[in-house]
Amino acid sequence: MSTVSPFDIVIFGGTGDLAMRKLLPALYQRFRDGALGQEGRILAAALEELDRNGFLERASASCRQHARAEFDAGTWAAFSELLDYIQLDATREADFAVLGQRLSRHPDRIRLFYLSTGPDLFSQICSHLGSAGLVNDQARVVLEKPLGHDLATATCINEQVGEIFSERQIYRIDHYLGKETVQNLIALRFGNAFLEPLWNRSNIDSVQITLAEQVGVNGRGPFYDRTGALRDMVQNHLLQLLCIVAMDAPTSVDADAVRDEKLKVLRALRPMRHEDVLNRTVRGQYRAGASGAVPGYTEEEGVAADSITETFVALKAEIDTWRWANVPFYLRTGKRMQERVAEVVINFREVPHSIFGENTLPAPNRLVITLQPQESVELHLMAKAPGDDMRLRPVTLDLDFQRTFTRRPADAYERLLMDCLRGRLTLFMRRDEVDAAWRWIEPILEAWEHHGTVPKRYTAGTWGPAASSALIGRAGHAWHEEI
Ligand code: BG6
Repeated sequence: MSTVSPFDIVIFGGTGDLAMRKLLPALYQRFRDGALGQEGRILAAALEELDRNGFLERASASCRQHARAEFDAGTWAAFSELLDYIQLDATREADFAVLGQRLSRHPDRIRLFYLSTGPDLFSQICSHLGSAGLVNDQARVVLEKPLGHDLATATCINEQVGEIFSERQIYRIDHYLGKETVQNLIALRFGNAFLEPLWNRSNIDSVQITLAEQVGVNGRGPFYDRTGALRDMVQNHLLQLLCIVAMDAPTSVDADAVRDEKLKVLRALRPMRHEDVLNRTVRGQYRAGASGAVPGYTEEEGVAADSITETFVALKAEIDTWRWANVPFYLRTGKRMQERVAEVVINFREVPHSIFGENTLPAPNRLVITLQPQESVELHLMAKAPGDDMRLRPVTLDLDFQRTFTRRPADAYERLLMDCLRGRLTLFMRRDEVDAAWRWIEPILEAWEHHGTVPKRYTAGTWGPAASSALIGRAGHAWHEEI
C-alpha cells in the first residue's frame, strides 16, 4: 500500500462521537497498515478544556474499542506521536490564529479540515479558516452529513463554504459510498458485460432498496428528533444507492464522470405532487417492543413526548428515463426493525409464457445484493427438481464475498479519509447532487407538514407499519422478506 504525502489533519469536533468512534480508529487502522507514514499530524480541535495527555487517553480507549484490527501498544505509541489536541471555540475568530500558528511549521503539507460538527457551524468555521489565511492550494474541507436541513439551508452552506474553498477542495461525505460493498455494486454492474443488456425496463419489473437498522436513536435523541428518517437516511444514503443502481455507465471512474451520471438519475426522479406523497409514502414511528424491553421512540432520551418525527419511511419512486420508465423503485429505511440489513433487490419480469403448464408458472428471477451485515450476491433461478416429473423449484446461485475474499473489508471511513488525503473525489457528493436530492425530498416534507401526516406506529422489532406492505402490495409487489 502506498503511503500518502505528509499531511496535517484538523478534526473540528475532535472529541465528539464521530471522531472517537469512527475517524480516529480509521486513522489508527490506516497507520497500522502503513498507509499514513510518520510525517503527518492529526490535530483534534474542540471546545473542551483538555490537555494532550487527556485527549490521548480518550483516543486510545476509543481505538482499542473500535479499530478493526487488534489493538497493539507498540503501534499505538507510534501513532500517538501524530496526535495532538487544541482547545478551540469554532465561533471565535481569534482561536483560528492560534490554530494557524500550529499549522505554520509545514505550509506545504496537505491540509485536511474535517468538520465533524453540526452543519450550523460549517459556514462559520470555513469563514474563520479563510480569514486566518489557512486555506491554501493544498487545503481541503470535509463536510459531514447532514448538509443542511432543507434546500435553502444546504444552498446557504454550500454558497458560504464555496466562497472559501473551490469545489475541487470540498469533500461532502456520504459514508455509504465508502462502503466496500457499495463500490462492489459498481464493479458488479460495470465489470460484467452480461448484466447491462438486462438492466432496463424490458427485463426488470421492480427494484427494492432497504436500509433497515435494529438500533434505535443510539443516544442521539435531540439530533434525530429534529431530523427524522427522511433527512437522515433517504435524502443521502438511499438516494445515492438508487443512483448507483440506476445510472448509465460512466465513461470512467473519474469523479465527474461518475457524478454526472448520478446527477442525471436524481434529476430524472419524478417529482412528487401532494397527492403522490399521500399515496406513495409511508411515515412510521416505533413504539415499545412487544416484550417491553425496548423503549418506544417518544420514550427515548432527548425526544419530545409528543414527537411526530418519523423513524421509518417507505416510498415508491419513479425515474423518468427510457431505461426506467414505469419501473417502481421502492425505498425503505427504519430504526428498530426486525433485522439489520442493507440490500438491493432487483426483481426481473416473469417468463412471457410458461411451457410447463398452467399450474407451473416459474417464479420470476431475482438478484439480491446484500450490502450489510454480510456482503453477498444471490441470483434466484428456477431449476428442475430431481424426479420423473418436470417439476420446477427455486434455487440460488450464491456468491459470498467473505468466503471469496478472505481479507476483511476496510471501514467506510478508512477508505474515505484516504481518498481525501489522496485528492480523489469520486466517492463524495458534488454540490449539484446534494441540491437535486433536496429538490426531490422537499415536496415530501412539505406535503407531510401541509396535510398533518402523523407517523403510523409500528412495534419495535418488526418490519415497520402495515401500511408499508400495503404500499408495495397495491402494485402487486411484496417486500423481499414477505416473499
Ligand atoms: C448515519 C445516520 O448516516 O448512518 C444514522 O445518521 C444511521 O442514523 C447510520 O444509524 C447507519 O450507518 P451504517 O453504516 O451503520 O449502516
